[in-house]
Amino acid sequence: MKDLVTQLLAIDNFDVVLVLSILIGFGLVETVSGFLTNSKRKKGDWVQEILSFLLLSTGIKPAIVFSVYLIGSRFFPEQHYLFNEISFGWGLLIYLLIDDVLQYWYHRTAHETPFLWKLHRSHHQAEEMGYFVSYRNAFLYYVLMPNIWWVGLVVYSGGGKAVALGLVLKQLVIIGSHSRLRWDKPFYTYPILRPLIKVIERIIITPSFHHSHHGTSLLDEASDPNGNFGNMFSFWDQLFGTATFQRSYPKQYGLQKKTNDPWTSAYFYPFVTSPDKQSDWHKDHQIKKTATKEAATLTLTKGENYLWCACGRSATQPFCDGSHHGSKIKPQKFTAKRTGEVRLCNCKKTAKGPFCDDTHLNL
Ligand code: FES
Repeated sequence: MKDLVTQLLAIDNFDVVLVLSILIGFGLVETVSGFLTNSKRKKGDWVQEILSFLLLSTGIKPAIVFSVYLIGSRFFPEQHYLFNEISFGWGLLIYLLIDDVLQYWYHRTAHETPFLWKLHRSHHQAEEMGYFVSYRNAFLYYVLMPNIWWVGLVVYSGGGKAVALGLVLKQLVIIGSHSRLRWDKPFYTYPILRPLIKVIERIIITPSFHHSHHGTSLLDEASDPNGNFGNMFSFWDQLFGTATFQRSYPKQYGLQKKTNDPWTSAYFYPFVTSPDKQSDWHKDHQIKKTATKEAATLTLTKGENYLWCACGRSATQPFCDGSHHGSKIKPQKFTAKRTGEVRLCNCKKTAKGPFCDDTHLNL
């Protein structure tokens, strides 16, 4: 194994060759499995994803690495060979763990804060999974990404080879978890393989784990768009309470609220805005409060699942329409216990959500 790694590291630009091989490999298999003929993607989706991939790898990452080099040489010249003082294996482990925990928190914060959500939103507009969805984010999202700056720091500190191999391993997991190939499916299909996937999914991100994050709504059992934020390792979701392990895949992908945005605003927001007035990328977009003081009285059907809006922003009160994205608030899923009239809270202050407990009388 050690010899193999040594030989690999001796190949010129092996990381570029391997990442391209991973992309081409997944691309070929997805194509053979009917991806191009069945795809819901429009031309703008392809343009955005391919442009984003090219600019990230040939522009943003090299520019950040170079910037860190300039800053490092000027202010921290003694740090230049820090990674040379530890073994390659330790360097690789330190690089990967710090990289992945930074990306976990950046990704999670992008779901929980309004501005970063707008930079990440296009990633979740994709209505089908595929290897190129991995690269679908606004330009500025990548410029601000802390783990790319960490890459620059490790390269500056002499850990270039650890970064090169680490990036290949990371891309393999990330592209695999976005791909529609669902490599983990046999593990759920054949009972003999199930114990194995229980171990694998507790270490790395699997397609079912990450597809769940891209599912449209919590109403679908296989979807958890407000959890599963991990990228390479699933440790962080387990540690910080956001992991949901799945055994199936969402029926529907993409955002609940559909808008008509050009790919230019998806990629270049906030420098280019969307003409769609309903879009988060419209220049006049504002978060609207739609909660009302009075409870909503309506008839529910026994056994049906509902998603109650807890954030007070939905246009379909008292139910969720996905407007909570960009905040820490999540909708509440519940099943009606009987058919009949109920009073659902619409002031969003109840202690017995989703039902009204008359808190609004004291507001
Ligand atoms: S719109 Fe989803 S919780 Fe309010």
